[in-house]
Amino acid sequence: SSNKQNSLQKFHMILQTALEFYSENIFKNKKALNYLEKRGLNENDIKRFKLGYAPENWDSLLENFKNKDYSNEDLIELGLIKRASTGNFFDVFRDRIIFPIYNKNQNIVGFGGRALDGESTAKYINSQESKVFNKSREVYGLVSRGEKIRKKGFVILMEGYMDVLSAHKNDFENAVASLGTAFTDEQAKLLKRYTNNIVISYDNDEAGKNALFRASYILKKHEFNVKCLFFPKGIKDPDEFFQSNDKKKFVELLKESVDIFEYMFSEFSYDIDIKTVEGKKIFIDRFKEFFANLQNRIEIDIYLDKLSEEL
Ligand code: CTP
Ligand code: MN
Ligand code: MN
Ligand code: MN
Ligand code: MN
Repeated sequence: SSNKQNSLQKFHMILQTALEFYSENIFKNKKALNYLEKRGLNENDIKRFKLGYAPENWDSLLENFKNKDYSNEDLIELGLIKRASTGNFFDVFRDRIIFPIYNKNQNIVGFGGRALDGESTAKYINSQESKVFNKSREVYGLVSRGEKIRKKGFVILMEGYMDVLSAHKNDFENAVASLGTAFTDEQAKLLKRYTNNIVISYDNDEAGKNALFRASYILKKHEFNVKCLFFPKGIKDPDEFFQSNDKKKFVELLKESVDIFEYMFSEFSYDIDIKTVEGKKIFIDRFKEFFANLQNRIEIDIYLDKLSEEL
């Protein structure tokens, strides 16, 4: 209904207003600017990616909204403020770099906030779910309504905010991140609007590897062509890669990226002897979930053929 439309519009406007506040503050805060500089982001990048800074105070955003026409209930709904047991309200995002999250229509739906130091508090916090923010339906870094992905002919899936920003800085504006949650069906459907081809570029660690498998199953269910990209030993994520490598190097990694099946083959066989019957049984069992998610008959046949050839 148009009533609902109006209230969604209102929420987007509140988030936009909050972002303006965070944006003004980043240029007033040396500590935040220094932190981002250390991470390779200059003032131009800050403007381009609309980064902000939430001040340390308990109520600076709250104060900023005081003379505006929005209720505290609205700010609570959006996860911008909370009520303490004392009854007082306080800002949720404090002393953090702010990353605005946009939906496919380029409306702000929420924020990510990174602590300047990783030790004393959670490294990242994200907006809670709200009437405009369903985490499992959004990705971070979707620009130009997906046009960049369409143009390149594929999307690159990464883990985090900083990974995506480093990729975009290096002209890979087809990179997105799944917002720290496990990759979902809804995110697959969203990306499917723009392309059938995906390259997964998750972190070079155990968590990243497990997430890669889980994401692949979902992507196969939605009939994506799935490749995976790997970094040289010692580089922990895309952001770290771009700190010491240029875009040509990343193009090389893209060229070397392999079909997910090929990767699974080597991962699933490394600790067993697939020459033995016992080994073959374990090996085939590990492919169960992959095959269970394949939709396309031809693809199933091709992968089955490959599997039996190798065995
Ligand atoms: N994440 C989160 N909450 C956390 C940790 C991570 O929401 N406590 C999400 C963030 O979106 C983050 C992503 O998961 O960007 C990947 O996490 P991780 O690899 O641990 O962090 P990085 O993105 O590498 O963060 P940084 O480079 O800033 O240290
Ligand atoms: Mn990680
Ligand atoms: Mn990481
Ligand atoms: Mn990182
Ligand atoms: Mn291989």
